[in-house]
Amino acid sequence: MADGISTDVLIVGAGPAGLAASALLSMYGIENLVINKYGWLANTPRAHITNQGTMQVLRDLGIEDRAMALASKQKLMANNVFCHSLAGEEFGRVLSWGNHPARKADYELASPTEICDIPQTYMEPLLLEAAASRGGKIRFNTEFLRLDQDDGGVTAHVRDRLSSQEFPIRARYMIGADGARSAVAEQLGLPMTGQMALSGSMNILFDADLTKFVAHRPSVLYWVLQPGARTGGIGAGVVRMVRPWNEWLAIWGYDTSKGELKLTDDEAVKIVHQLIGDDTIPVTIRSTSTWTVNNMWATEFSKGRVFCMGDAVHRHPPLNGLGSNTSIQDAYNLAWKLAAVLKGQAGPGLLDSYSVERVPVAETIVSRANNSIKDYPPIFDALGMTASDDPVRVEELMAARKGASDDAKAQRRALNDAIRRKNYEFNTHGVELGTRYASGAVVSDGTPEPEFIRDPELYYHPTTWPGARLPHVWLDHGGKRVSSVDLGGKGRFVLLTGPGGEDWRAAAAAVGKKLGLDLPVVSIGPDGSDAHDIYADWYYQSGVQEDGAILVRPDNYVGWRADVMVEAPEQALGAALSQILARQ
Ligand code: FDA
Repeated sequence: MADGISTDVLIVGAGPAGLAASALLSMYGIENLVINKYGWLANTPRAHITNQGTMQVLRDLGIEDRAMALASKQKLMANNVFCHSLAGEEFGRVLSWGNHPARKADYELASPTEICDIPQTYMEPLLLEAAASRGGKIRFNTEFLRLDQDDGGVTAHVRDRLSSQEFPIRARYMIGADGARSAVAEQLGLPMTGQMALSGSMNILFDADLTKFVAHRPSVLYWVLQPGARTGGIGAGVVRMVRPWNEWLAIWGYDTSKGELKLTDDEAVKIVHQLIGDDTIPVTIRSTSTWTVNNMWATEFSKGRVFCMGDAVHRHPPLNGLGSNTSIQDAYNLAWKLAAVLKGQAGPGLLDSYSVERVPVAETIVSRANNSIKDYPPIFDALGMTASDDPVRVEELMAARKGASDDAKAQRRALNDAIRRKNYEFNTHGVELGTRYASGAVVSDGTPEPEFIRDPELYYHPTTWPGARLPHVWLDHGGKRVSSVDLGGKGRFVLLTGPGGEDWRAAAAAVGKKLGLDLPVVSIGPDGSDAHDIYADWYYQSGVQEDGAILVRPDNYVGWRADVMVEAPEQALGAALSQILARQ
C-alpha cells in the first residue's frame, strides 16, 4: 500500500520548473517529493536557449560546469539566418544572443555565466540529478488527479499509473509545475488572461548531416521563409540545431481548422527536404509531435498553500527562448521563500510576494514572445511573398529587390529594417535579466527607480536599486576570482558593505540571532577586505557609499539598501529584514 505518504513540499511535474524547484528546495534542506505522470523526462528537445539568469541559478546549484559541458556554446549560436531554404538564397542574418561585437560586452559585463544552448533533453536529466542527489524524492508514473487543502496543508489525490491504484499524498505546501495543460492551475481556478491555441505547429525531430549548409554560418536557428511557411505555426519555418550538425528539429505550421494533424514519416521527410531545399540529403525521422501557439498567463500564481509555476501559469510560443528560462527562475523565486517559511524564519505572508513578483514577468515574456511573431510578416512583405499566390511571380518580386530602381531601394530598405527588427527576438538582454520586483519582500530605500538610458527590452541596466538583480562584478575572494553574485545564494541572505561599514557586522549578528537565521556580512573594498574589489568595479557599481550596505536575498535580488552607515544599524537592518520575511 502506498498510502500514508507525506512530505513538506509536493511538486507536480518533472519539467524544468518542477525539477529546479526540487533541486533548490533540496539544497536548502527542505523535504520534497516530485511526481511525474510519465515514466521519464522530456522526450523531445523543446527548450534550448539558456540565458544568463538561468545559468546563475545553475551556478548557485553548483552545476554550471556540468551544464556548460552539455551545452553548445555562445559562439555556435552566433547567427540567426533568414533564407529561402538552407540550400537556397539567403536574405540576411542577425548576430544573436550577444554575439554582435557591440553586444558581446553587455553580456560579459552582466553575469559571470554565459548564455548557451542546452536542449531540454539534456537540461532535465541534469536538474533531476541535482534534485535527487541532494535528497529530493522523485516518483515517476504518478499522475496528479485532484487536491483538497485546509489550514494545515494540502492533500493531493494521485494515481500510480503502473498499478492504477489511487492514493493520497499529504504535504504542507504544493507546487503545480505541470505544464501548459496544468490540472493544478485549473483546479485552483487561477485567473487566466489571453488566449490558447492561436495556431498549430509541428515539431519534426530528425537526423541529417547538414554541415555543408550551416557550418560556415553557425547558428541554432535557421528561419526558412517560403510562401507555405505562413500557415499556422509561428510565422516562419525553422530548422533548429539540436546537436551540431547532425541532429535537428524542424518546426512547421499547420492549419488547426482541418482537425488533428496526423503526419506520416514520409510526409515529415517531405517537409524537412522542403526546408533544406535539397531532397537528396538522407534524413532519418526520430519523432513528430504537435503543439499550439498560446498567448496566456495567470494573473495570480497561487491559492492558499498551492503555488503554480512554469508553463502552468505562462503559455507562449518559443520565440525569444524564454519559457524554460522563466520556469526555472520562477522556482528560484519561490524556493527560498518556502524554505524560510518552513524553517520558521519567515511568516507565511512572505509567500504572497511570489505571485506579486512573478506575474509581471509572465505578462512581459508572454507578450514579448507573441510580439516576436508579429515581426515576421514585414519580412515576407518586403520580399514580395505576400503580393501574389503565383510562385513564379513571387520569384520575380523577390528578385526585384536586387535592382537599382527606387522601388528596389525601398524594398531593400524594408527588408533590412524588418530583419534588423528581429533583434527584439534574438538580443533582448533587458527582458532576460532586467526584471525589477516590487512587493512586500523588497524594502524601498526611498530613491526613485533609476531610468533606463537605453532600450529596456534590448539592454540590461544593472543597479542595486531594491528589487533589482544584484549586479555582477569580478572580485578576488581568498585568492580566487569570484563574482559578486557568488557571495550570496545557497539559500542565505548576505549583507554587503565596504570600508567604514564595520558596524553592520554587529548589527547583522544581532538581527540574525533575533530572527533565527545566518546573516553573513561581506565587506568589499581594497586588499584586506573580505572581497578585494580588484577592478574597482564594485566601487562604481554598488550604488551606495562605502559604509552603506546592501541586503541581498537568497535569489540574488536586492532586498534593501542603506546609502550610508546609519545611527542605529541594527534597528534599520532588523526592520528591513523583518518586513521582507513578513515577521512584523
Ligand atoms: P513542462 O511542460 O516542461 O513540464 C510539465 C511536467 O508536468 C512534465 O513532467 C509532465 O509529465 C508533468 N505533468 C503534467 N501533468 C501531470 C499530472 N497530471 N500529474 C503529474 N505530472 C504531470 N523555452 C526556453 O526557455 N528556451 C527555448 O529555447 C525554448 N524553445 C522551445 C522550443 C519549442 C519547439 C517548444 C515547444 C518550447 C520551447 N521552450 C523554450 C519552452 C519550454 O519547453 C517550456 O516553457 C518548458 O518546458 C516549461 O517547463 P515546465 O516545467 O513549466 O513544464
